[in-house]
Amino acid sequence: MSTLLIKDVKNTFTKTFKTDPLLIFSPGRINIIGEHTDYNDGFVFPAAVDKGIAAAIQKSDSGYSTAIALDLNSTVDFELDKLKPSKEGSWENYVFGVVAEIQNRNIVIGDFNIVFKGDIPSGAGMSSSAALENSVVYGLNEVFDLGLSKHDMILISQKAEHNYVGVKCGIMDQYASMFGVKNNALHLDCRTVESKPYEINFKDHQLILINTNVKHSLSDSAYNDRRSACENISELLGIKALRDATESDLEKIIDKVTPSNYQKALYVIQENERTLKAAKAIENGDLEKLGRLIYQSHAGLSDQFKVSCDELDFLVAQAKKNKLVLGARMMGGGFGGCTINLIAKNEAKNFADIASKAYKKKFNKECSVYFIELSDGTHIVN
Ligand code: GLA
Repeated sequence: MSTLLIKDVKNTFTKTFKTDPLLIFSPGRINIIGEHTDYNDGFVFPAAVDKGIAAAIQKSDSGYSTAIALDLNSTVDFELDKLKPSKEGSWENYVFGVVAEIQNRNIVIGDFNIVFKGDIPSGAGMSSSAALENSVVYGLNEVFDLGLSKHDMILISQKAEHNYVGVKCGIMDQYASMFGVKNNALHLDCRTVESKPYEINFKDHQLILINTNVKHSLSDSAYNDRRSACENISELLGIKALRDATESDLEKIIDKVTPSNYQKALYVIQENERTLKAAKAIENGDLEKLGRLIYQSHAGLSDQFKVSCDELDFLVAQAKKNKLVLGARMMGGGFGGCTINLIAKNEAKNFADIASKAYKKKFNKECSVYFIELSDGTHIVN
C-alpha cells in the first residue's frame, strides 16, 4: 500500500473540509485462475494486492455530500435523496451506486464527504472499480455505524456495479478486495461465497503482471452478453448455473445452441475444472502443472470465450517462448488489461524487458510491468 496515496487523500480532505477523516485502503486484485466462472456460481482463485484505492471519509453537516476523485481532479456535490445514475462511464456512479444500494436496504445515512485516489490504472483488469466501491461502503459503514457485515458490504458493492455502472459482474472482485489475506490467494466458491485461503509461497517462482495498457472500453456490453449467453444455456439445461453442468450434459443440447455459445459454455465448464485442479496443484507444490492450467485458461478465454485481444495474445505468446515462464494468461474481464505470468524469480526482470521491447516493436506503444504483493483486504489505516 502506498503511504503517499494515504497522505494525499488525508491532506486534501483536511484542507477542503477542515476536519479529520477516517482513512481507508481498499485493494485491487489479481486472479490466478478461474475467469468468467464467478457469475456461473463456479470457483475462482483471486488475491488482493498492494495497489488500490485510498479514501478519506467523514460525515458532513453542510446539507449535501461531496466526493472528490483526486486522480481526475474532479469534484461532485450531491444530495442523498435525489440520487440517480450519472452518464455512462462517470466515476461518480461508483459512489452514487453504493449509497443508493445502502438506501435500498432501508438504511438511513447522513451527508458525507469523501476524497479518494488510486494507483491501479482503470481498465487494467485489476478491479479498481471494486476497490472504489468497497472503500465507499466500508467507510460509510464505519462513520455511520451501520453494522453491516463484510458479506453485506460486498453485495452492496456488486449491486452498485449492476445498477449504476451497468456491468452485471460476479462477486469475485468485491470479495477479493474485501476479504484479501496477506500472502494468500483465496479459493472462492462463488455459490456459497466462502473461500479457503492458500498461502502463496512459490519459492523460486513469482507472479508478475504485464499491462497491455489497452483499456477494456466497449467491454461492458460484451461482458453482459457473455453472462446472458451462460444463463440462457443453464436455462436450457434446466440447471441453476453452468457450475452444475458437465461436458456431456452440454453435448445433449448441442443442436439447440449456436456453435459460438456452445464453445462459451464449454469454456466455463472446463475453466471451473481447471480452477479446482489448480488448487490441488498448489497444494502439491506442482508449479509446472499450475502453469499448464494457466496457459490452457488463456487458450480458452481467447479461442472459446472470445474475450482476449491481439495485445494480450501477443504477450502470452511471448511468455510461451520462454521456458522459465511456467504459465501466462489474460486476467479479469478481458478485451485489454493485464496478463498474469508465473515465472522463475531470477528470470522475471529479463522476461519483462524482452516482452516489453517486443511489445513496443509490434504495437508501437508501451506495456507496463507490475511486481505485486498479495495483501490484506479493505481496512482502516491509522
Ligand atoms: C470482471 C468481473 C468479475 C469477473 C471477471 C472475469 O472482473 O467484475 O466479476 O466476472 O471479470 O472473471
